[in-house]
Amino acid sequence: RMQTIGKLMKVYITRRIPPEGMKILSSATGVCEVSMWDSDEPVPRTELLKGVQGAHGLLCMLSDKIDAELLDAAGPNLKVISTMSVGFDHLVLDAIKKRGIRVGYTPDVLTDATAELTVALLLATARRLPEGVEAVKNGDWTSWKPLMLCGYGLSGSTVGVIGLGRIGMAIARRLMPFGVKRLLYSGRTTKADAAEVSGEFVPLDTLVSESDFIVVSCSLTPETQGLCDKAFFSKMKNTAVFINSSRGAVVNQEDLYEALTSGQIAAAGLDVTTPEPLPTNHPLLTLNNCVVLPHIGSATYSTRGVMAALSARNLLEGLQGGEMPSELAF
Ligand code: NDP
Ligand code: DGY
Repeated sequence: RMQTIGKLMKVYITRRIPPEGMKILSSATGVCEVSMWDSDEPVPRTELLKGVQGAHGLLCMLSDKIDAELLDAAGPNLKVISTMSVGFDHLVLDAIKKRGIRVGYTPDVLTDATAELTVALLLATARRLPEGVEAVKNGDWTSWKPLMLCGYGLSGSTVGVIGLGRIGMAIARRLMPFGVKRLLYSGRTTKADAAEVSGEFVPLDTLVSESDFIVVSCSLTPETQGLCDKAFFSKMKNTAVFINSSRGAVVNQEDLYEALTSGQIAAAGLDVTTPEPLPTNHPLLTLNNCVVLPHIGSATYSTRGVMAALSARNLLEGLQGGEMPSELAF
């Protein structure tokens, strides 16, 4: 399953990547030799630990845990890690920093695609699209009925964005034209561009209790891990809709299940879960008021192509000691 493309500095790629990225790496034959786990499925850990041995560069995905064990397996050659993602919670930064390794990632280029998907998920969840599609197919659509499949609309609503970063802001910009009345946000710092969406910086508790829609778009950190738990959901309105397109671990899924089944909250839409994939027998998948997607926020052909190209450029520049187009400062 291993594929060797060129020679010189050793690069290991943990998965097949879109051709836009491969093209850049294959044209750098004077710089590096590339080995790739030639599959669309994740490389098994044991294979990964073998594959990285002696590598100067590593191009990885968000599903590869890059920790001290892996860095030790790679050995002292490793100069640069390029992840084909904007999220970097799968990288153990302390261990990476200690070894003086540079990190590239893919901010900005996936912001629009992810914001668009998040809005689609919000609308699908609030307006109960999966239930509607199912009703048409299974014959539950017997007539137009005054209260059939009613949901919640954005017009006149209060939206709360947890983490008004690049993607959070892009989501807010897209939601405002639906007639949102108030846009609340919370995080560590106020944002200068929040004025563009009339964003009000509020304490998390205020956001949770006053919002009709809560959108989680923060990064996963020790502080945000498990942030959306029993106490969080118990402060939400019974009519509120919860959306998460950041990382699954921001949510305590047992507490979310309880909130959805007890009527504590109206509905939830998740593009990210723990674990991924979510087992098909997971309790959340039995609920009509929970819409779960398979982590497809950035999944447009063009965005994935641009992400692959950016990861390849980050890797090559890092290997040559140059300026990486998107280097993570840490
Ligand atoms: P940014 O760094 O621009 O935004 C992250 C935001 O999280 C920042 O505004 C930051 O606020 C905020 N944040 C950090 N800590 C907290 C906290 N304790 N409470 C509330 N907010 C906090 O990153 P992006 O917008 O580009 O990406 C955000 C995340 O989205 C990624 O880390 C990734 O996990 C996820 N993602 C998911 C995708 C999907 O397919 N579903 C696709 C792409 C990204 P502050 O600046 O104040 O610290
Ligand atoms: C990321 O980039 O962090 C997303 O989760 C996938 O695009």
